[in-house]
Amino acid sequence: MSKEKQRVGIEEFSESTGFQIVDQPVDDIDMIRQTSMSNDMDDEAFYICNISNIIQKHQLWKKCMPRVIPFYAVKCNDSPIVLQTLATLGTGFDCASKGEIAMVMNCGVAPQSIIYANPTKSVSHLKYARERGVSVMTVDNDYELHKIKQHYPDAKLVLRIRCDAKFTRWLPFGKKFGCDPDKEAEGLIKLAKSLDLNMIGISFHVGCGCMESSAYERAIQLSRKLFDFAASIDYNFTLLDIGGGFPGEIGTDIEEIASIVNRSIEMYFPSPNVDIIAEPGRYYVSSAFTLACRIHSMRKVYRNGKFDSFMYHINDGVFGSFINCLFDKSFAHPTTLKSENEELFKSIIWGQTAASIDQVCEDVLLPELDIGDFIIFQNMGAYTIPVATSFNGFPRSKVKFYIDRKHLNVINKICNIKVGI
Ligand SMILES: Cc1ncc(COP(=O)(O)O)c(C=O)c1O
Repeated sequence: MSKEKQRVGIEEFSESTGFQIVDQPVDDIDMIRQTSMSNDMDDEAFYICNISNIIQKHQLWKKCMPRVIPFYAVKCNDSPIVLQTLATLGTGFDCASKGEIAMVMNCGVAPQSIIYANPTKSVSHLKYARERGVSVMTVDNDYELHKIKQHYPDAKLVLRIRCDAKFTRWLPFGKKFGCDPDKEAEGLIKLAKSLDLNMIGISFHVGCGCMESSAYERAIQLSRKLFDFAASIDYNFTLLDIGGGFPGEIGTDIEEIASIVNRSIEMYFPSPNVDIIAEPGRYYVSSAFTLACRIHSMRKVYRNGKFDSFMYHINDGVFGSFINCLFDKSFAHPTTLKSENEELFKSIIWGQTAASIDQVCEDVLLPELDIGDFIIFQNMGAYTIPVATSFNGFPRSKVKFYIDRKHLNVINKICNIKVGI
């Protein structure tokens, strides 16, 4: 491929914003090919993030579920530019701690646009939320109600119930969070009332990577029953929080979940007096981030004197962007810059640390690669960057952002980014 062709669509780099600006949709792999040709390339792994992809996801969300206001789950990817982009687009935010509240408020987000959606809160974090005016928070047990009564009595409480989808990509939440909707919820609503607390609604999370869309319907129906119970003891619930669980990888869509959610809302919550929010994480960021790693070392593996496979050592790993590989051996899907027609060989991909568990792919088919070649991983935006460590002294992979020129108006508002508490 000629250099000219490889550069197609990539127009300019804006020093002021730190964004590469493109004039037409560009393939991530082409973008990495282009970046790899620049002279200032060092040998560290890097992400490229397509901000336009996040903007398009937001537009799609509004189209698919117009009544459901997204409160982006910061834990999923807390890159300041992602937060600032979403703040500019007008989403709310789901924060799990004092640090996340600070990050989001530093982007200029109003406290009313934040839900403190961690049902277990330590006192210092609770007090911080109070100082910053973040009053809406989830709760799922009596100890927490008493704690809130003591430290933030005028908080607005959302009772989190348990309603796990039958199939989820990750461990279900019900073991850790959410009260039993049949056996515990009414008791907790009554307790909140007796403590003179302000309970305003119900929340649930059917599970990350939900693969049973009807779980949303079950949970919305259960919520309706609890709204009715609350009304019977003079609580006026006004908030339903349908949590996260929406898929975000390339090739997935939210249409099936959206149609079930819309139908259920219509059936159980027709009144516009109830605000409906969600806490999508993965949906917004997964497909927007592609990680480009480089092979720094390699060797051939022989079995019984015969070539068996290639071993590649790359400059990221399970203590960095690939923590998910510790739980899910099929998490990482590598691809290369080589032609698809090349012969494929059994390959093992290792991370860069000295730890023996630092394995990214156990057994994948790849063309023959060399030291310095790229191995690329798409769909790397969710639960990667915030969980990465610098174990063994290896730096976390940095992000290069790019955006379609037609979305520049969003980015222009983002240039002045403040980071930290
Ligand atoms: C309370 C809460 N809300 C939202 C999310 C985001 O979930 P997802 O990325 O599946 O949308 C999580 C993920 O852990 C969560 O714990």
